[in-house]
Amino acid sequence: MLKLSKLATAAALAVAGTGLCVSALAGEVEVLHYWTSGGEAKSVAELKKIMQAKGHVWKDFAVAGGGGDNAATVLKSRVVSGNPPAAAQIKGPAIQEWASEGVLANLDSVAQAEKWDSLLPKVVADVMKYKGHYVAAPVNVHRVNWMWANAAVLKKAGVAGMPKTWDEFFVAAEKVKKIGLIPVAHGGQNWQDFTTFESVVLGVGGPKFYSDALVKLDAKALTSDTMKKSLETFRKVKTYTDAAAPGRDWNLATAMVMQEKAAFQFMGDWAKGEFLAAGKVPGKDFLCAAAPGTANAFTFNVDSFAMFKLKDPAAQKAQGDLAAAIMGTEFQEVFNLNKGSIPVRLNMNMAKFDDCAKLSSKDFVDTAKTGGLVPSVAHGMAITPAAEGAIKDAVSQFWNDDTISVAEAQKRIAVAAKTK
Ligand code: GAL
Repeated sequence: MLKLSKLATAAALAVAGTGLCVSALAGEVEVLHYWTSGGEAKSVAELKKIMQAKGHVWKDFAVAGGGGDNAATVLKSRVVSGNPPAAAQIKGPAIQEWASEGVLANLDSVAQAEKWDSLLPKVVADVMKYKGHYVAAPVNVHRVNWMWANAAVLKKAGVAGMPKTWDEFFVAAEKVKKIGLIPVAHGGQNWQDFTTFESVVLGVGGPKFYSDALVKLDAKALTSDTMKKSLETFRKVKTYTDAAAPGRDWNLATAMVMQEKAAFQFMGDWAKGEFLAAGKVPGKDFLCAAAPGTANAFTFNVDSFAMFKLKDPAAQKAQGDLAAAIMGTEFQEVFNLNKGSIPVRLNMNMAKFDDCAKLSSKDFVDTAKTGGLVPSVAHGMAITPAAEGAIKDAVSQFWNDDTISVAEAQKRIAVAAKTK
């Protein structure tokens, strides 16, 4: 749980010290987000434009830090000090936790007027609701189990196409190493480690195993031979990263692929937003494929904005307009074209989207039918924030410390999974 009361004193002191004026202007909408990289900033600028066109004042509350850990900390202190933003980028089970604190606004009137129930996949709508009432608006669907590559680097290394299995991947990685380039661009936050880890688990064990081990946190699955093999494979991937990875942001790792310093990156399709923002062309400059062994599966990551209770009627109006805009066709298209994701709103025209997005869209629908559609743990879709944090730490310790054996890591992950 968020344990808001414990944070209250510290946060109140922090805000008192700043002397900030906390009253909202009429029609002002303050939006807390962590979209600060090139592609992300371009995407969120589109939402700002739409809101400004409706006559509202956009108050940008950007907190840098991929994956949103920093943003979550800042949000907690703002809410406990009684000064929440109108909207904050919160997703997955964390929405339920915030709603249970009684601080989120009811969006039912907007949702009914805009027919959200019929425009959203049920699995998404359920996450946006607390006790049957909408409290958040979904933005997009990111696919996490992607592998990105620089086409020129693969060519130089003599790698014929995107590897389809982990065995093929390691053959390709060796070839890249031989020409003196970095096979895997990686960064240094625990969510980046886990983004790679969950793709490895999915590729090695398949979607059912992934669900048992990482979503249901089944002790048998976590201590199984399949998990052992996943950890061994994960450790092998590490050997193809560079020594400077610790502390590196995800978008700088993407830049290494763009600049022909590295061949591959395991990252969700916000990486595509970076490639596109830098003018790179999909299928020509950079390639996308499902991570090895995961073509039949889709780890989803749905970004959303939870809305906080506000007192000022003008601010409430702006907030309602924001919620409606987020689910509108204009925003769903232009935002997702920039962000690398696909629209979350059903039946959108995909004509303007590239082949990576079209594949994502097709696989989203197909895997929903076959059972291959699974929530991303790394991106807050699957388990409680507390359990997620503990498992991420255990996995990152293993990734960063070669003295931790596979058996020891398996034990630590199983213990972390019990965190409440
Ligand atoms: C994800 C988020 C994406 C992207 C990424 C890097 O968790 O869902 O929208 O921004 O982090 O910050």
